[in-house]
Amino acid sequence: MRETSRLRREERAKPKAPPEAATLLAWYDVSARVLPWRVRGGAKPDPYRVWLSEIMLQQTRVETVLPYYAKFLARWPDVMSLANARQEEVLSAWAGLGYYARARNLHACAKAVVAEFEGNFPEGEDELRRLPGIGAYTSAAISAIAFGKKATPVDGNIERVISRLFAVEEKLPAAKKILARLAAEMTPPHRAGDFAQALMDLGATICTPKRPACAICPWLDACTACARGDQETFPRKTEKAEGKLRKGAAFVVLREGIHILLRTRPEKGLLASMTEVPGSEWSAEYKESTRTAPLAGVKWRKAIGTVRHVFTHFPLELTVYFAGVPEKTPAPHGMRFVPLDALDDEALPSVMRKVIAHALEFIPERKRKGSSK
Ligand code: ADE
Repeated sequence: MRETSRLRREERAKPKAPPEAATLLAWYDVSARVLPWRVRGGAKPDPYRVWLSEIMLQQTRVETVLPYYAKFLARWPDVMSLANARQEEVLSAWAGLGYYARARNLHACAKAVVAEFEGNFPEGEDELRRLPGIGAYTSAAISAIAFGKKATPVDGNIERVISRLFAVEEKLPAAKKILARLAAEMTPPHRAGDFAQALMDLGATICTPKRPACAICPWLDACTACARGDQETFPRKTEKAEGKLRKGAAFVVLREGIHILLRTRPEKGLLASMTEVPGSEWSAEYKESTRTAPLAGVKWRKAIGTVRHVFTHFPLELTVYFAGVPEKTPAPHGMRFVPLDALDDEALPSVMRKVIAHALEFIPERKRKGSSK
C-alpha cells in the first residue's frame, strides 16, 4: 500500500463511538432472528432445548438444523426420553445432519445428565465441559443462553465481528486469544445469553465475510475497520502452508448394481466415524503398485482421471477403481453393502460423494439397476 493512502486510511480510522453492548442488545431486541430454541420477553429458556440446538448447530447452518431440531423435540421432548432412547434410533434420526460423533455424544450426554445430575443440566462452563460433546464454545453458549451466566462463546462469526470492530491486526489463529478477551470484556453481566446470540446474528446477517451490510449495522459508528474502509480484510489470517499432496486408492464395489460396499472410519482422527468406500492409506508416499483391493478374485477397472479434494491441512488425490460383484457376495469383515438409494442416510463426507459420483460415471445406467449379469 502507498504511504499516502495508508495515512489517509488511518486518519479516517477513528470510530465515532465506543462499541457498547447496550447498542447491540437494543438492535437484538428488534432484529433477532426468530428461532425455535429462543424465548422472548425474558421467559426462561429450557436448558434441554438450548443444549440440543447448540449441539446440532456445531459446524452446521441454522436452516439445515431446523427440521432436525423439530423432529428430535417431537420424538424426545426432554432429556429423560432421549436418554432412554436406543442409540440406533438416535443415529438414524440424525442421519443426514453429518458428523455422526455428535449424535453418539448427544446420546451419551443425555444419559450422563440423567445419571449424574438427576436430569438437570449443570449451569457452569466447567461442569458442562466435562459432558460428552460439549467443548469450550458450546459450554459457554449453554451457560450464557440457558442460565444467563456471564460467559462468551466465540466462534468464527464472532471472531470476524470482533476483529473488525477493533481492527485487530494480529493474525488468526494467534489472534484467537485476543479476540476472545475483547469479546469477554464487552459481555454484560446481565443478558449474556442475548449478547452472545446478538453477536451470532450480527455475524450471520450483517457482518458477513463478503460485502458486509455496514450501513445497517448497529455498531456502524463504533467499528474501527468500517471507519477505515477495510472491513472485508478482517480477520487477518496466517497464510496456510498447503500441506504436501497425499495420494491413495478408493474402491467402489457394486453388488448386482444396487448395493455399494461401505465401511465406517475409525472413531478418532480425520473424518472420524464417517462412512467411506474401502481404500488405501492416504499418503505422500502412496504407490499404485502397493495398493490392496478389498475383494480378491474381482475384475477391477480403473476410472479415468482422479478425484481431488482439499482438506484443511493437505490436498488429496484419489485413484478410483470400480468393480461389479454378484448378488450373493458377502461383505468383507468390517464392511457392509448398502443400497445405493439409501446413501443419503449415510454420513458420507464430500470427498466420498465425489469418489462415488466419479465411479458411477463409468458404470452404465443399465448395470446399476440389477441387470449386470
Ligand atoms: N449458532 C450457534 N448457536 C446459535 C444460536 N443460539 N443461535 C443462532 N445461531 C447459532
